[in-house]
Amino acid sequence: MGLLPNPFRAIVIGSSGTIGEAFMHLLENNPQCSSVVGIHRYSQHPIDYQNLESIKICVDALTSEAPFQLIINTIGILHTGDWMPEKRLADVNAEQLEELMRINAIGPALTIKYFSKLMDPAHSLMVTLSAKVGSIEDNRLGGWYSYRASKAALNMLIKTASIEWARTKPNSALIAMHPGTVNSRLSKPFRGEQIGRPASDAVADMFKVIEGIQKEDSGSFVTYAGEKLPW
Ligand SMILES: NC(=O)c1ccc[n+]([C@@H]2O[C@H](COP(=O)([O-])OP(=O)(O)OC[C@H]3O[C@@H](n4cnc5c(N)ncnc54)[C@H](OP(=O)(O)O)[C@@H]3O)[C@@H](O)[C@H]2O)c1
Repeated sequence: MGLLPNPFRAIVIGSSGTIGEAFMHLLENNPQCSSVVGIHRYSQHPIDYQNLESIKICVDALTSEAPFQLIINTIGILHTGDWMPEKRLADVNAEQLEELMRINAIGPALTIKYFSKLMDPAHSLMVTLSAKVGSIEDNRLGGWYSYRASKAALNMLIKTASIEWARTKPNSALIAMHPGTVNSRLSKPFRGEQIGRPASDAVADMFKVIEGIQKEDSGSFVTYAGEKLPW
């Protein structure tokens, strides 16, 4: 049996994104989920990783609504108005590396730090979306330096926190999840519309995996199909 109780209460962080919005829709229509709070840059209690203090302010505002049993963080960037993923070493630059580290690794790490206070000590899980291209062992193609490095850093932060949680939150699981290639704003410049799946299909698969997660799974990097990925 998984960690999610019936009923459970959820938070989706990055609920304005393609995958975040699809998770909101799925959870709003799941009778087991008694409430779901969506957080994004313009929500009632906003989080903007360009202003890292917003994370703690958001958590302070949600404290009276705790505990939550499921927290899903979908925030992430691959490209911005200023940057496309680097194809070669010559494209690597400090500004892009800093920006992707901030949004894909530092923001999510502080989110784990602060949101862990809202979690139900009896049974809860926190899932952060990572990416298979963040796997160091699986890196066969190269390129995309800052995205790969930021997701690899995120994976290490999740793994490290999960080891601490095994002592401090023994009934909770912390997971890095790869959603697969999804047709979204993030994947659009990379033929996402042609090769990506609809977000509704991806979140339906991811939720099946989430339902089966047990505390022993904490600290793993899994795909939408429930397969373990190498770090
Ligand atoms: N799509 C794929 O094929 C794919 C594959 C592997 C992994 N992933 C991962 O899945 C996650 C969701 O991706 P997606 O495809 O749903 O992308 P998306 O549609 O572009 O959504 C990205 C989300 O991140 C938020 N965000 C970006 N910068 C932010 C900031 N500074 N502060 C707060 N929020 C910020 C966006 O908010 P705004 O709406 O305000 O911009 C949006 O909610 C990401 O972590 C991504 O790396 C996606």
